[in-house]
Formats: sequence, C-alpha cells, structure tokens
Amino acid sequence: VGVSRTSSPELLVELERGRPLAAQLEQGLRDGVRSGRLAPGTVLPSTRTLAHELGVSRGVVVAAYAQLGAEGYLVVRQGAPVRVARAGASPMEEREPPLQAAPRYNLRPDVADYASFPRREWLVSLRAAVHKASDEQLGYGDARGAEQLRVTLAAYVGRSRGVDARPARLHVTVGFAAGLSAVCAALRARGARRIAIEDPGHLTVRRLVEHTGLELVPVPVDEHGLRVEELPDVDIVLVTPAHHFPTTAVLSPARRTELLARDVVVLEDDVDAEFRYDRSPVGALQGLAPERVVYLGSASRTLAPALRLGWSVLPSWLAEDVRTEVERTIIAPPVLDQLALAHFVERGELDRHLRRMRLHYRRRRDVLVRALDAQLPQLHVEGVAAGLHVVARLPDAVDERAVLEAARARRIALGGLGEHAIRPAGGGALLLGFARSPEPTLRAGIRELSRAIDEVSDIFA
Ligand SMILES: Cc1ncc(COP(=O)(O)O)c(C=O)c1O
Repeated sequence: VGVSRTSSPELLVELERGRPLAAQLEQGLRDGVRSGRLAPGTVLPSTRTLAHELGVSRGVVVAAYAQLGAEGYLVVRQGAPVRVARAGASPMEEREPPLQAAPRYNLRPDVADYASFPRREWLVSLRAAVHKASDEQLGYGDARGAEQLRVTLAAYVGRSRGVDARPARLHVTVGFAAGLSAVCAALRARGARRIAIEDPGHLTVRRLVEHTGLELVPVPVDEHGLRVEELPDVDIVLVTPAHHFPTTAVLSPARRTELLARDVVVLEDDVDAEFRYDRSPVGALQGLAPERVVYLGSASRTLAPALRLGWSVLPSWLAEDVRTEVERTIIAPPVLDQLALAHFVERGELDRHLRRMRLHYRRRRDVLVRALDAQLPQLHVEGVAAGLHVVARLPDAVDERAVLEAARARRIALGGLGEHAIRPAGGGALLLGFARSPEPTLRAGIRELSRAIDEVSDIFA
C-alpha cells in the first residue's frame, strides 16, 4: 500500500491508499488540533499545496477543510487562508492527565476492598430490578428516589444505625456528596452562612463544602472528637460522630449532648461508621434529635463508590426545600440501580456482606498491626477498633511530608494526617489503610515503608 505524507512537520498527516482519503485527512487534522500539535491560529497550507504534497485531488482537501470548518476545528473563509480555530476546548484540557503509576502497595486509608465487591449478588439484584421495574418506573420518578428503596433504607438505617427515618424524608442521593451539596444549598437559601467543619477532616469533604459557597470555620478535634466547647457562632456543623476521619475518634457522650444543646443544624457524616471490631458501631446522633440533625450515609465504604448511592434523612422542616433543590437540578441516581439496591438489602445481602467484611477486615487489620509492631515499633498505632485504616503517629523529630514523599516514591499509596488538616497541630501521623491489600502485600508494604522512613530519618537506625 502506498503512503503519502505532508512535508510540513506540524501537519504530520499520512494517507494510506485504499482507504477513503478525505476521511483520513480529516481524522489526521482533527487529531492534530486536539492534541495541540496544531495550535490555535496556525495557518494551514492552501488546498492546492496540500493536495500536491499528498498526491490527491484538490477536491479531497476541499472536502476535509469544509468538514472540519463545519465542526469548528478550522476557520474556513472565502479568500482567506484556512486557520486552526481559537474557540473550543483548549488542547491542554483535552489532553489526558499523565498516568500515575499504580501503587505497588495500596495502603490508602479511605477505600473499601473492591476485590470483595459482591458481584454475583449485585448482578442478581440488578437483573431483578430490570425485570421487575414497571414502565412507569422508567420515568424521572420522585426526586427523593424510588419509593421502594426509600422504604427499605429507612428500615435499614433505623435498625443498623438507630436513625429515626421515615421514607417520606429519606432522600436517595448520588453518594454522600450530592446529599451534602443539596442540603447545604437548601440551608443557604434559608439564610445559613457559616459552617463549622472538623479540623482535621476528610479533604474531599472539605472541598465539597467549599464548593457550596458557605463560609468554612475549622474547629479542632481531639481524642473525644470535635471540640464542641470551641465551637464559634455558626449556622451549621458538619461532624462525623461515630468514627472521625482521619483520627478515628468517637464523639464522646458529653460532647454529643453539648452539641445538640447548641442552636445549630448538625450534618452527620456517617459514611465511615459501619465497621467496628470491638463492639457494635456507635449509633447515630440523628436518633437523639431528628429535627436538629441531618443524617448522611453512603454505600461507598460498605459496597463501592462506583455505585454512587447515598442517602440523607432530613428534618421535617427541611425536607421540602431539599426536594425542591433536587428537582431543580435533577441530580439523582439511576432508578434501576436504586431498585437493585432495594432488592439487595431486602434479600439480606447487605447484612451478609457486612458480616463477611467485618471478619475480613479484622483479619487484615490484625496483620497490619502485627507488621507495624514488628517493623516499626517506634510508631504509635491508634484507631484500631474501627474503620478501614489505622493512625500511626510519627515521633516528633520525623517529618510527615518527607516520609510521605519517600513512601510514595516507593509506590506505597498512603495518607498523612497533615494532608487533611487546615491548621496542622501536633505531630505528624501516617494513615494506613488495610482494606485493599491481601495479607502478604500488607506485610511487604510495611517492610517497604520502614525502608522509606529509614531513608528520611536516622532515629530508627
Ligand atoms: C468521611 C467521608 N465522608 C464522605 C465521603 C464521600 O462519600 P460518597 O462517595 O458517598 O460521596 C467519604 C469518601 O471517602 C468519606 O471518607
């Protein structure tokens, strides 16, 4: 097959005989614009010159230029040279971000074990959902979510988390994230301006709150959770009472009482609460004050973030506003997935999965803690009773950032306490997740981590 090329280096178009020439030329030029090789404003050769270079008829080039002109890649005007258009997405935006090397040891603190996702059981539920959904259910449906799931989840959060939930005030959301955004928007519309958040607190959650336009007020956290006594004058408090991320603290009974006595709306982030290994999970704050507390849960930790399924339980005075907010944006999870989750929970699959995962995670946690004891006895390990990560405090002389860098250079994925803090206080700590790594990988990961720490500090030598 013959191949012809353009002579100008930035055009780089190659045509193969035997395939439609105009389409090839079009594709080659389109790729050039998308990749940024042909910068906005670049003048292209005349149709005559390019046809000559490529050894094709002029009509082929005219057709390709016209097509790309119509698509907005080129500016084609009578009597003027053809140029690459300036409008549209900049090539920088179009380019894929550089691929990050996959970690060799995944010790991320905020992920579930996706390898344990109950694929077979989920498929059964998904099939059932598609089979059983009525024609009516294929419409937009209720902005709050499919009724069947609202009923099922209201019962589930009632029995498993002590939440006082009525289906009418339970909203199914696109993860915790969309629930939080809708609630914040509704509260803002009612005049709320200042929101207190835990410092440290999950970075992703902080970014979400920043995006709502509310003014963020960081409040410190200690071993008893949010320091409620330091709460300034705010309208809203976002808190993780059952299991604080990243410190793992549980909000003490005294502070729970104190918080509920304040004249604020409490948003309860319960995403990271379901896994406790020493006793039953600490019940939700919402059950104590359902008219004061908005409860926010999610399937991201218990099943997988890929489902993008979450739920909010709202006080009666706020439910309509949030519903209006969601109706305005129509941001709701796919109904078929909602029906699948309803089926999954009703058949007892979620309970079964949680029981299985509790044992699975506890075994992995034990392996991680033993490996830390053996390899890095200088680290003080906390937070082993619940959740999917532990906190390993670094001695004062060791810099958290340097350790994180050295560890990541060795392709260990992990977290640092300081990364989730607005005003870092006290010493550094590593956040080490045990969810995703099989036991040998956990052991090898901690060995590799001890080498990384040796590299940046001599106190372990
Ligand atoms: C404490 C906490 N809250 C909320 C979220 C976000 O949950 P979702 O995936 O349901 O939006 C996360 C995710 O890691 C989290 O760690």
